[in-house]
Amino acid sequence: MTLHIPRVIGHRGAKAYAPENTLSSIHAAADLGVEWVEVDVKLTKDGTAIIFHDEELERCTGTQGLVKDFDFKSIRELDAGSWFGESFLGEKIPTLEEVLDAVLERGMGINLEIKPCPGREKETAEVCLDVATRIWPDDHPPPLISSFQHVSLETALDMMPEWPRGFLIDEQLENWKEFADYIEASTINVNGNTLKPEEAEMYADYGKPLLAYTINNPDKARELVRWGVDGVFSDNPDVILEVLRPRH
Ligand code: G3P
Ligand code: MG
Repeated sequence: MTLHIPRVIGHRGAKAYAPENTLSSIHAAADLGVEWVEVDVKLTKDGTAIIFHDEELERCTGTQGLVKDFDFKSIRELDAGSWFGESFLGEKIPTLEEVLDAVLERGMGINLEIKPCPGREKETAEVCLDVATRIWPDDHPPPLISSFQHVSLETALDMMPEWPRGFLIDEQLENWKEFADYIEASTINVNGNTLKPEEAEMYADYGKPLLAYTINNPDKARELVRWGVDGVFSDNPDVILEVLRPRH
């Protein structure tokens, strides 16, 4: 199946409008007409794949502690909504399964970023792929599986070679091309806020779609596209959609 990556991907759902990485955030993105969302996948202490960004629970739940020390039952008791706004009180940290179901129900595509707690790079990728391959229909464009963690990408290649992989790069790595070849990267995903034009050219020359995170300013999005960037992750995807034409 050919890989079609939209110009704009909703970051953690639509992070500017609803608590990030929750079902409300997925629905907010769908309501804005976003084609794809990106979410972060990690594991609870007892190995359930959930959607959450930080290693610490505090910022998005108000509870102190680390995700890796909480089992799924305790994770579900936390409120992941009211930190963002009172109207989101009672929002739960969703499972990967719940998010995939919501994305399918709303007719969107998804980028699953494997964001393991330290030491769980392989296991997080394994559970993520187990759950996603069980749920995702064969006749839908497959999820893009991305990670900053090389072991997670290697595991994704081993388990599901036919699903595309996005190689997330924060700071430029000397051997990025060798690793991109090794994991058969389908996209190169870079920090668009620190990217220099000559780096954009170098990555674009690799010949795979170049995606940039996290771009909330429409002028910056336009500049990046001029530099060769194919798509951006945005907390306010509607604002960026207004200035970037779809590529199809
Ligand atoms: O996948 C793009 C972007 O989400 C990577 O950074 O920290 O927001 O997960 P982060
Ligand atoms: Mg992410």
